[in-house]
This record gives sequence, structure tokens and C-alpha cells, in this order.
Amino acid sequence: MAQTTFKAMVVTEDSPDRFSRRIAEKSIHDLPPGDLLIKVLYSSLNYKDALSATGNRGVTKSYPHTPGIDAAGVVIEGGGDDFKIGDPVLVTGYDLGMNTSGGFGQLIRVPVGWAVRKPDPLTLRESMIYGTAGFTAGLSVAKIVEHGILPSHGDILVTGASGGVGSLAVSVLSRIGYSVVASTGKTGEKEFLTQCGAKAIIHRDEINDKSKRPLLKSRFAGVVDTVGGDFLATALKSIALHGAATCCGNVASPELHTTVFPFILRGVTLYGIDSANSPMEYRRKIWKKLAADWKPDHLDRLANEISPAELDRHIDLILQGKLRGRTIVRIQNP
Ligand SMILES: NC(=O)c1ccc[n+]([C@@H]2O[C@H](COP(=O)([O-])OP(=O)(O)OC[C@H]3O[C@@H](n4cnc5c(N)ncnc54)[C@H](OP(=O)(O)O)[C@@H]3O)[C@@H](O)[C@H]2O)c1
Repeated sequence: MAQTTFKAMVVTEDSPDRFSRRIAEKSIHDLPPGDLLIKVLYSSLNYKDALSATGNRGVTKSYPHTPGIDAAGVVIEGGGDDFKIGDPVLVTGYDLGMNTSGGFGQLIRVPVGWAVRKPDPLTLRESMIYGTAGFTAGLSVAKIVEHGILPSHGDILVTGASGGVGSLAVSVLSRIGYSVVASTGKTGEKEFLTQCGAKAIIHRDEINDKSKRPLLKSRFAGVVDTVGGDFLATALKSIALHGAATCCGNVASPELHTTVFPFILRGVTLYGIDSANSPMEYRRKIWKKLAADWKPDHLDRLANEISPAELDRHIDLILQGKLRGRTIVRIQNP
């Protein structure tokens, strides 16, 4: 291994609670111990990365730090019996980019148990169009399917539909035959969401009930929620008998004010989604589906590709809820 330095985004705490970020040269000795050294070719931008890049201690405890919860690349050192040099792999979740130097750098070093062999026929680039957002969408869709909700049972609501998790949930659900109602706050994204496969598009105000009624008209067979707060509370009141909702995000609010009535009068189930700690066997199963049967034809069109230098601006944009679909980062050429 001749390479001793590499380029990475470094977030620094300049003074208490004041953070800055820049692309800097790091030493390979700055990387944590691990079994697997990976040359990162692609990463992607997730909401959590923006939190890490702006000093959110709930995500990253100590700085200086390199964010990036997603990385796709090739093994250049280590791997034991599981991987050989040159194998294409992806790492999403676990502690990558949180308190472990992440995918916004040209090299990562991680435990071998964090890496998934790239499933064929997906390319490394496509794996990052999915990234954590797509994997989370996949986990959410799997819960809807495993719950026994069939396309014939009715519409599935997806909230935060123009975002990363949302647009991929809309795309995968419609790919496998569900009728999807996409909720968005962006009036200009109708065409994009229609291209993703949404059957209907509603403004998010429509699912922000202020009436305090314990239940609303049954409207959805299932819900993939990515925003939390009153939107999830309203969705729960609108789910038909024995339906289910998944909950993965908190961009609207981490609070959930609900009553027990959706659960005890309609038998509604609320599933929590935690992509970071998903067990490896299940993780591989979901990636395999995303690589084949669940792969939307238009996957490439969901992605905006940027360079590491453009990350800074896009971190601000994702925090403002202004990004559409997925933002992937070409970290370096092979
Ligand atoms: N649990 C897990 O394992 C896991 C994994 C990945 C992500 N997440 C979480 O899932 C959420 C979505 O992640 P993402 O990567 O898809 O983020 P994203 O690309 O920023 O998308 C979030 C979307 O939510 C909507 N939104 C933004 N601000 C809002 C507000 N104040 N009220 C209501 N809706 C708002 C917007 O869509 P519209 O304009 O279309 O409504 C936005 O595009 C985040 O909270 C993230 O942390 C969790």
C-alpha cells in the first residue's frame, strides 16, 4: 500500500459550537483501525451527513471529522477470507461517517463485517444512487410487503416524497405494482414524482390534520413516512383496517403526538426503521432485491452527480429541504 495521504472533507470545530468544513489532505494514519481498507469511488449525500457536517452531536461526537455515511469502492487492503483485493464493495450505515471517518474521503477503513459485496448487476455508481436513502426505502417497502399489504388493498402514502428516501420509496413501490400517493411540499415537483411512478400527488398540508379528531377517513392501505411529526400522526389516523406505517425520519419533527385509537380500533401497526444497524443477512437480502426485481427503470434519472468541491453548497441545500431525489458524489476515478 504505497498511498499514505488522501483527500477528504474535514469538518472542524473552530470555536465552541462554530464549525467549518473544507477539503483537506489527510494521512492514512488518521484512519481508525479496521480489517478493510477501501478506495472510495462514490459516496452520496444524506440528511444525516448534513447534520454531521454542521456539528450535530447527536450524530458526531468529536471533531475534526470526515462525514459520509455511504461509500462504494474497491478493496485495496485486508478482507481476510471474505474479500480479495479489487473486490467492489459498499458500506452504508453502522458507524461510518458518524464517529468513523466516512465516505467523503478517498479512503475509509472499516471492520470487514460492515461491507456488502456489490450485488450484480448493480454498478457502484447505482449503489450510491440508492445509498442509505435507497436502502432505507427498501427496508420500508419490505415492511409493507411483509405485513401482507397487497397492491389490491389500496393506496400507499409516501411522505417527503421528493427527498432521497421518499423518491426511492415511490419508485420501488410503483415498480412492484403499488398505487402510490406522493405527499410533497414542493409544488414544482409534480412531473418528477409522476416520473417516479406516483399515481397521485398531494400537498403535504393535506396530511397535516389540526382537528384533534382521533381518527380520520380510511384513506391508505399503508404509509411510508420519512418526515415524522404531525404528518406521521395524521397518516396514522388515515390508515385503513389492519394497515401499517413505517417511520424512519424526523425532518418535520422528532415528536409524535398520537392516541392509541389507530392501533386499538383499526389494528394499525407502526414499524420503526433503523437502517444503520440492520443485520447483515437481511441487509444483503434487501440489496439483492434493490439490484434486481425492485430496481426502477429510471434509477439513473433520480441522481444528481456532484464533485467533492460541490458538497459544501449541497449540504446547505439538503438542510433547507431544497434537494430533489439523490445527490451522489464522485469521490475519485477508478
Ligand atoms: N432511520 C433510518 O435508518 C434513516 C435512514 C435514512 C434517512 N433517515 C431519515 O429520513 C429522513 C429523510 O431523509 P432523506 O435523506 O430522504 O432527506 P431529504 O432528501 O432531505 O428528504 C427529506 C424530504 O422531506 C421533506 N421535508 C423537508 N423539510 C420538511 C418539513 N419541515 N416538513 C415536512 N416535510 C419536510 C421534503 O420533501 P417534500 O418537499 O417532497 O415534502 C424533503 O425533500 C431524514 O430525517 C433522515 O435523517 C433515516
